[in-house]
Amino acid sequence: MAIRHASLLSYLLYSFLLFPFYVEAFGRERLEAAINSRFPATNCSLSPKGFDHSTKLQIVYKNGPCSPLGLGRNTTLSPLQILLQDQLRVQSIQSRIFKETSIAGSKAAIPAKFGLPLGKMEYIVKVGFGTPTQYVTLLFDTGSSLTWIQCQPCAISCYQQLEPIFDPSNSSSYSSIPCDSVQCSQLVGPHPCNSTSKCIYLMKYMGNFTSIGYLGVDTLTISSDVFPGFQFGCSQGTRGDIGMIAGILGLGRDQVSLVSQTAKTYGEIFSYCLPSSNSIGYLAFGSQAGTGSTSIKYTPLVIDLNAPSFYVVQLIGISVGGRNLSIPPSVFKSPGTIIDSGTTLTYLPPSVYAALRSAFRQGMTNYPPAPPLSPDELDTCYDLSKSATNVVIPSVVFYFEGGASLDVDLTGRVIGDSSLSQVCLAFAATSSPNEFGVLGNLLQQTYEVIYDVAGQRLGFGPGGCT
Ligand SMILES: *[C@@H]1O[C@H](CO)[C@@H](O)[C@H](O)[C@H]1NC(C)=O
Ligand SMILES: *[C@@H]1O[C@H](CO)[C@@H](O)[C@H](O)[C@H]1NC(C)=O
Ligand SMILES: *[C@@H]1O[C@H](CO)[C@@H](O)[C@H](O)[C@H]1NC(C)=O
Ligand SMILES: *[C@@H]1O[C@H](CO)[C@@H](O)[C@H](O)[C@H]1NC(C)=O
Ligand SMILES: *[C@@H]1O[C@H](CO)[C@@H](O)[C@H](O)[C@H]1NC(C)=O
Ligand SMILES: *[C@@H]1O[C@H](CO)[C@@H](O)[C@H](O)[C@H]1NC(C)=O
Repeated sequence: MAIRHASLLSYLLYSFLLFPFYVEAFGRERLEAAINSRFPATNCSLSPKGFDHSTKLQIVYKNGPCSPLGLGRNTTLSPLQILLQDQLRVQSIQSRIFKETSIAGSKAAIPAKFGLPLGKMEYIVKVGFGTPTQYVTLLFDTGSSLTWIQCQPCAISCYQQLEPIFDPSNSSSYSSIPCDSVQCSQLVGPHPCNSTSKCIYLMKYMGNFTSIGYLGVDTLTISSDVFPGFQFGCSQGTRGDIGMIAGILGLGRDQVSLVSQTAKTYGEIFSYCLPSSNSIGYLAFGSQAGTGSTSIKYTPLVIDLNAPSFYVVQLIGISVGGRNLSIPPSVFKSPGTIIDSGTTLTYLPPSVYAALRSAFRQGMTNYPPAPPLSPDELDTCYDLSKSATNVVIPSVVFYFEGGASLDVDLTGRVIGDSSLSQVCLAFAATSSPNEFGVLGNLLQQTYEVIYDVAGQRLGFGPGGCT
């Protein structure tokens, strides 16, 4: 104990006298809770504040104790596996942008044909389709726009899912979209069409997951709100499966997105609070969005013609331990930063990551280093398994254009194994300075994140979940 106190004392002395540094001490329980927030816990701890079941959708972590799937699924990923999944998704985001760039001159709406890897999309919500309403559980994704669900008669193949597979023939309000319609050509591009045939969509996600089926319209039910004529993919065949989940709810920025299709009622506003693995978050629309937090600060949503499907903001600075990294805003702003629900870590331009890492290391000199998890990423690790009850970890604050800032919760700063023997800085570098940065879901945890698409702004509300 004496040694621990002495080292903490000398650290504080060093911090405040020689080297003014803002530090926060965390009890061991808090640290363990933050590290373990990605691992399935055994018990579900219920209900965030301001949660109204009639107007907000519950979000739960697919493989956590609050999930309708229950536990017992061996799907825990190690930090290294998370990193590999993330890299796939981030690369695919970049490649979609480059692809979109090459056809940015054309007036055609960019179809949301190519999705992103599904691996890290782990948040699920329940919505209803058809008349009478058939409820299904879906993954939600801010990185893709077409909503699709498995549909009877599963002409090619369906995988097993939690609820009965949606049967359009049982719904009095379902109709398929003809192949020669405007909606069909917007989604799949103009193509020779047989006027009697139905529109066929194909969604390819990275990692070989594919869904093919008919584009249809039916009534969508979100909490107590009903949207007749909602356009979605009625999947007749998939390659791969997404683990008992009926399909994907697309909250991306394209025309076909749920956000655009419900614009008359919700005004293109939604918000969410992403839960940790053992709790329940929410997805709220319209007037309900933004009611979870009392102090929301906004930053403009940038319309980036190179990345029209994504939500892009301008990060302008980062402070570590209360001191700003000496990197000009232009480095952060070129080309921009995407906020994504399906990426776990946060990706920064290489020079920014290097500066963040270096400042973080200065604040962690008191702890024994642990081996890096990978040569270039998750390369700043500490062995905290034998550390004192109070562990001191530098604060990290992200500053955005327009005055919004995000004081990154402990959960978003570090990632590691449950024994705390390898606790690593939870940020990574993009592979080139020309690539977009990505704000991942660890960083967003504990905040209510508000997408005011019509108002072209994105807000962060602290304490929006607990
Ligand atoms: C989980 O719940 C069970 C039964 O209610 C209880 O016995 C157990 O102590 C709880 N575990 C934790 C880690 O809270
Ligand atoms: C669960 O997965 C881990 C890592 O993939 C593996 O080591 C372990 O044996 C698995 N456990 C079961 C019960 O399948
Ligand atoms: C559709 O209707 C049939 C016949 O009434 C019924 O057997 C089946 O369970 C229904 N399917 C769903 C998903 O409700
Ligand atoms: C249109 O579809 C019908 C029925 O599927 C088929 O018999 C016909 O040959 C098709 N016509 C063309 C021009 O493809
Ligand atoms: C996708 O499938 C192709 C061919 O079947 C295979 O070569 C490739 O490794 C697969 N990719 C992934 C990520 O599984
Ligand atoms: C760091 O930069 C942000 C954004 O430019 C600014 O608002 C903040 O006051 C700066 N903090 C310090 C300690 O200089």
